[in-house]
Amino acid sequence: MPGWDITGGLVLRGGALASGELALAGREIAAAAPAGARRLDAGGLLVLPGLIDIHGDAHERALQPRPGIGFPPALALRDTAAQLLASGITTAFLGVTLSWEPGLRSLATWRALMAALDEARPLPLDLRIHCRFEADNLDALDEALAAIAGGRIHLLGFNDHTPSILKKLGNAKELAKYAGRAGLPPDEFRSLVERVAARRAEIPAARARLAAAAAAAGIPMLSHDDATLEERAHYRSHGARLCEFPMAEAVAADARAHGEAVVMGAPNVVRGGSHLGWASAAPLAERGLVTVLASDYHWPALLEAPFAMARRGRLSLAEAWSLVSANPAAATGLTDRGALHPGMRGDVVVIDPAGPRVLACFVAGEAALLTGEAIRRLR
Ligand SMILES: [Fe+2]
Repeated sequence: MPGWDITGGLVLRGGALASGELALAGREIAAAAPAGARRLDAGGLLVLPGLIDIHGDAHERALQPRPGIGFPPALALRDTAAQLLASGITTAFLGVTLSWEPGLRSLATWRALMAALDEARPLPLDLRIHCRFEADNLDALDEALAAIAGGRIHLLGFNDHTPSILKKLGNAKELAKYAGRAGLPPDEFRSLVERVAARRAEIPAARARLAAAAAAAGIPMLSHDDATLEERAHYRSHGARLCEFPMAEAVAADARAHGEAVVMGAPNVVRGGSHLGWASAAPLAERGLVTVLASDYHWPALLEAPFAMARRGRLSLAEAWSLVSANPAAATGLTDRGALHPGMRGDVVVIDPAGPRVLACFVAGEAALLTGEAIRRLR
C-alpha cells in the first residue's frame, strides 16, 4: 500500500484553506507521505474532505427514470455510485423510502435494493442506508425492525407524508403523479390511501418500537418536515436528534437551541429557494439555523451548494464546506471523517474551483475516481 502525496493545492485544515501537502497512507490521512507514495500535483486545485450526504434519493430516477418504467436495482446502484463520486460524495446515506405505496417506494423495491446492495459490495464509496420509514407502513414494521437489528439501516427517518397525500387527492394532477409512481390507476390509488389511513391509531405504538430499536442499535434518527414545535418535541422524545427540512424557522431555531442538527436541501441553496415554496436554506445557514445540507433529490447540488454559499459573501468556502462534510459527519456519529487531520479516514476530494469540477476522489485512502486531468497530474 504505497499511499498518496497530494501536493501544491489549497488544503482545508483547521477551518481554513492553506497551501500545503496532504498525505494518505493505508486507509487514513497521514502526517507525511510514505516512501513510494504516488504524487498528485494539485496546483491550482482545492483539496477538501469528501462530501457526506445524509439524504439523497436521486437513485429513484436510476431505478425509474420515467413513471412506471423500471430498471434493475443492480444497474441503478452502479449508476448511482458513479454519479455520487462524480459529485465528490464519498459517504452517502441513500434515502430509501419504505412506504405503503406500491412501486418505487414499496417494500418489494426495498427488498430488491437491499439484495442488489449486498451483491454490489464492496462499492467504491461508503454507501449507507437512510431508511425513510413512512408512518402508515404498519405492514413493514417487522421488516424494518429486522433490518435495524441486522445492521442494514444506518440512519432512521420518521416520514409522515400520508396526510399531505390525502389532502391532494382532490387535485387530478397530483393524484395522477402519486398513482403513476405507484403504478396504479388513480381510483385504486385513492382507495388504497384511504384504507391505509384508517389504521392511523396504530402509528404511535409502531413509532415507539422503531425508535427504541434504533436507539438500542445506536442508529441516529431524524424527523422529517416538522411543521411545529410540538412535532419537533414529539420526535425529540423518541430520540431523533436531527431535524430534517423543518417547515418553519421557529422549528429550526428550537432544534438549534437543543443542540440538534438542522438539515435542509442543497438544491434549495443552488436554486435560491425551495421547490415547494418553503423557507430559503441559504440565509438560515448563514444565521446558524441550518447546519447540514443534503443532496435531497439531486447529487450535483451538494457539491455546488458550498460554492453558491461562498458567492453570497457571508460565509467563506471553508465555513460553507462544514455544511456538507464536518457537520453531517458529526450529526451521524461518523467521528472518523469530515476533516483532514492525520488519523482521519482518507476520504478526500480534489476539485477545480472553476466549475466546480471534481478531478479526483479518494475513499479510505484509495483512488476511487481519477479523471483524465487528474491522471495527467500524476508525478
Ligand atoms: Fe417530505
